[in-house]
Amino acid sequence: MRRSSFLRASGGAVAVAALAPLSERALASDVVQYTLTAGPLRFSPVPGQNFAGLGFNGGIPGPLLRVVHGQRLRAKFINNTGQGSTIHWHGMILPNKMDGSEGVSQPAVPPGGSFLYEFSPEPPGTRWYHDHISDGLLRGLFGMIVVEDPRDQRADAEFALVFHDVPKMATVQPAMMGVGSAPMTDPAGSPELIQMNDDKMGDEVAFSAHCINGASYPNTKRLAVKVGQHVRLRILNANPTQTRYVRLAGHRLTVTHSDGNQLPQPVEVDALRVGVAERYDAWFEVSEPGAWLLQGLSTDPLAYEQAAVVHTPGMENTSPLSNPQSLEGTDYFTYVKAGGTGSVMPAQGAKHYDFVLDDGKYGSSRWTINGKTYPNTQRINVHRNDLVTVRFTNKTDMDHPMHLHGHVFEVTEVDGLPLARPLPKDTSLVRGNGGTLSWRFRADSPPGRWLLHCHNAIHMMDGMMTLVQYG
Ligand code: C2O
Ligand code: CU
Repeated sequence: MRRSSFLRASGGAVAVAALAPLSERALASDVVQYTLTAGPLRFSPVPGQNFAGLGFNGGIPGPLLRVVHGQRLRAKFINNTGQGSTIHWHGMILPNKMDGSEGVSQPAVPPGGSFLYEFSPEPPGTRWYHDHISDGLLRGLFGMIVVEDPRDQRADAEFALVFHDVPKMATVQPAMMGVGSAPMTDPAGSPELIQMNDDKMGDEVAFSAHCINGASYPNTKRLAVKVGQHVRLRILNANPTQTRYVRLAGHRLTVTHSDGNQLPQPVEVDALRVGVAERYDAWFEVSEPGAWLLQGLSTDPLAYEQAAVVHTPGMENTSPLSNPQSLEGTDYFTYVKAGGTGSVMPAQGAKHYDFVLDDGKYGSSRWTINGKTYPNTQRINVHRNDLVTVRFTNKTDMDHPMHLHGHVFEVTEVDGLPLARPLPKDTSLVRGNGGTLSWRFRADSPPGRWLLHCHNAIHMMDGMMTLVQYG
């Protein structure tokens, strides 16, 4: 209702969403209502592109949704895609039947059907929503939702940025079969490129355009800032398969939140490392007039498209300061940097699970957890308030962004290093070639069945998935 005017004003899926400060938005309503209509969309971020996509409310990404923590969200979903669909609220702790996992928490909403999602968004932070059936997410059914935390430090300016890339849909099936020919495009100097070997070939999807909020540089909307401002960026990597490194030329970034959850202490870096489905809140100070490029780094020849100009008044037509598309010599975000190393308290009385992530060798269409593909994977059966620990060991040579629905877990260990300050997250990258990573979480979410899976769309569709079930 009161949001509808906001949505109209922002056109639903504008290039860059500059957000009015919290105090300027009414807090009068207890319920925030949105209608999300999913339907076919011809998407052309660059001339000559004509992607047969699917979008919410006529855009890729879908509209930026905002609620203030404590408000209730009522989102009416109308499915005009012509195929079954659901909306998953990634990172939210919510009643199980609102989780939007097709076949697990609800049946598919049929073509022409609708579904009312209603819950009180928890916890506050930068979260997102997306289709949870087959190729809907690949084709564009996703968007960001911000649950504002009134206790947060106030930003002078804030921008919500969805990084996404347009897949060549013809490369998806070969990638699922493990016989694709798309190259890896991680930036020079990245751990992904360093650990690559031949096995890794064959599983990647190719991309034809690179976007920030649905536009490609130079058509991306500029981010107007002023000298003296303390600016907050909310960044989502909605790419279905690839980690994104993000850098703002001329600035260090102070990371305060990971997947929307406040870090135990802020960490300052040159570049963000944003795994598939992860979000980071990063801040910078504008200390002088200028124009700078905010860039997604990769070795893709079209990588320059994933950029937007940040500028002070009068500088919009100056050629912006930029960085090479490489990570060499940069200090980029890692979990170990954010958590520090030390020792964690042993998890007394925890139910422990060891999950080995495997397969994906050339020509394979299986991505496994302890040798099994979903639905035959080992389940995590919990009773209310159980403490659960999971240790992943990655025997493949690709990183796996492992995600748990309906919970916030803590990352307590990375590659054998215990973190002094465990990191609250909902998605975490497990490094390839023997990398390990441990989670700890309390089974105190609403009862039901919650998916645990790799968020690489190919790996997920090829079976790297299981369930946490409350008994
Ligand atoms: Cu982003 Cu199963 O979810
Ligand atoms: Cu994976």
